[in-house]
Amino acid sequence: MSIPVIAIDGPSASGKGTVAARVAKALGFHYLDSGAIYRVTAHAALQRGLDLTDEAGLAAMARDLDLHFDGQEVYLAATPVGDAIRTEEAGRAASRIAALPQLRAALLELQRAFRKAPGLVTDGRDMGSVVFPDARVKVFLTASPEERAQRRYKQLIEKGFDANLPALVQDLRERDARDASRSAAPLQQCTGAHLLDTTDLSIQEAVDRILAWYSPD
Ligand code: DC
Repeated sequence: MSIPVIAIDGPSASGKGTVAARVAKALGFHYLDSGAIYRVTAHAALQRGLDLTDEAGLAAMARDLDLHFDGQEVYLAATPVGDAIRTEEAGRAASRIAALPQLRAALLELQRAFRKAPGLVTDGRDMGSVVFPDARVKVFLTASPEERAQRRYKQLIEKGFDANLPALVQDLRERDARDASRSAAPLQQCTGAHLLDTTDLSIQEAVDRILAWYSPD
C-alpha cells in the first residue's frame, strides 16, 4: 500500500497553506508547503546574484539546494530564512522562476522525498497533477481575488509588513495569470480534484470538507 498523500492546489493567498497544515495535524500526517521551496529557491538565487532567467544555472543550483523545514521555519543549510521569503517581492520572484521547466524538474525529487509514513498533506500548484499524481485526495482550493487579497493583507500586516489592498488585488491577478498561463505545470483544477471554494467558508469548514473526502484503508 503506498503512503497516502492529500494534494491541495490552488492560487496564491487562497488559504490553502493554513487549511493543509490543519488537515495534516488532524490526521497526524507530515506537511509540505511546496510554495516555500520555490520561494527559498528564488531567495537563494537572488542572494547568489543569479539571473532569474538563467534556467540551466537556476536548475543546477536547485539540484544542490540544502533545504530543510523545522515546523514553520525553512533553513538553507544551517541558516533560517525567516520571513524574507514571505514578502510579495519573494512571491513574485518565486512565480517567475516557477515558470522554468528545468527548474521544476530539478525540484521534483526534493518534493517527493517528503512522502513519509504515515502520510503527507501538501499544498501548491501542481501537487495533484505532477508531483503526486497518485494522491489519495486531490483538492483545488480557491476563493475570490478580493477575498484572497483581504487574507493576504491581514497576513502581511500581522507580520509587520506594509500592505496596500488595491495593489494586492492587482498583484494577485497578475500572479494568477502568470501561474495559470505558463506551459510547465500550470495552475489548474486537475482531473479528479474536488473544487473547494472557500470564499464563504471558515478555515475549520474547509478542513472538515477535506477530512470527509479522505478515507483511510
Ligand atoms: O503558494 P505560494 O504563493 O507560496 O507560491 C509562490 C510561487 O511559487 C507561486 O506564485 C507559484 C510557485 N509555485 C509553483 O509554481 N508550484 C508549486 N507547487 C508551488 C508554488
